[in-house]
Amino acid sequence: RKISIIGVPSDYGQHRRGVDMGPSAIRYADVSERLESLGYHVKDEGDILVKKEIKNSQSNTNLENLNEVLEVCTQLSIKIEEVLDQGRFPLILGGDHSIAIGTLAGLTKKYTNLGVIWYDAHADLNTPDTSPSGNIHGMPLAVGMGLGDERLVQLGGLGAKIKPENIIIIGARSVDPGERNLIKEKGIRVYTMHEIDRLGMTRVIENSIAYLKERQVDGVHLSLDLDALDPLYTPGVGTPVPGGITYRESHLAMELLEEEQMITSAEFVEVNPILDERNKTADTAVALMGSLFGEKLV
Ligand code: ARG
Ligand code: MN
Ligand code: MN
Ligand code: MN
Repeated sequence: RKISIIGVPSDYGQHRRGVDMGPSAIRYADVSERLESLGYHVKDEGDILVKKEIKNSQSNTNLENLNEVLEVCTQLSIKIEEVLDQGRFPLILGGDHSIAIGTLAGLTKKYTNLGVIWYDAHADLNTPDTSPSGNIHGMPLAVGMGLGDERLVQLGGLGAKIKPENIIIIGARSVDPGERNLIKEKGIRVYTMHEIDRLGMTRVIENSIAYLKERQVDGVHLSLDLDALDPLYTPGVGTPVPGGITYRESHLAMELLEEEQMITSAEFVEVNPILDERNKTADTAVALMGSLFGEKLV
């Protein structure tokens, strides 16, 4: 199989600077070498061009840096379409989670019934009306469902891109009131930390796989926010939440997904080397990619 790595050095979806260096940190952790050693043909497509300019703080909506996020996500969606046309697996390196708006827009040009596994401490289901922060990285999953700011929703020209019943959130432990309402209203499948503790990661993933098969999805995107893991393992994230998924559970999750050969694209986001300890978070991201792409000890 062929993998294309796409870096998206954007920090426009939130307030903590440094997450724009995520792609560099992940490359420094030898992502290409790791995947090549597993027998893949890896092409590093380089970074999406992200202009570094003074933020447009004068926005009168509850959306920080909207124009910048739109520009980055538009470029990313075009790049992903290109990569898919070449029959390659898109592996996207963030950047904050707002980039997923571009990812989903690009992917759904090809996949018309896409499944999404959102591995995250957060639900990222806010809209400008419910967001406590105005940070777009807390909104991408809602935008994917067609909810929120019209300019974000219409990115790529399709409107709603994913069905609520094709979404699975794993690792949630910080959910805002508006997000909780949306989860109930749309019947979105969520495995919070409670379910992970109670069922164990094996059953969580097995159930997720069965659920997505029932939905007859034509592809599955893994959107992995490193803050899904406990900050013990991934301290280099902008919005850490204690009580998270362990390092081992996360490897197990990746291994089970690999066995099923179900994942057709992936993104690893929110790596912020400025907040990190000796690149631990990027190292963890690359180790998890190893498992997702079939690394075995024996
Ligand atoms: N729910 C909070 C917000 O809307 C935090 C979102 C964090 N999202 C993330 N991708 N880390 O601001
Ligand atoms: Mn998160
Ligand atoms: Mn603000
Ligand atoms: Mn997130």
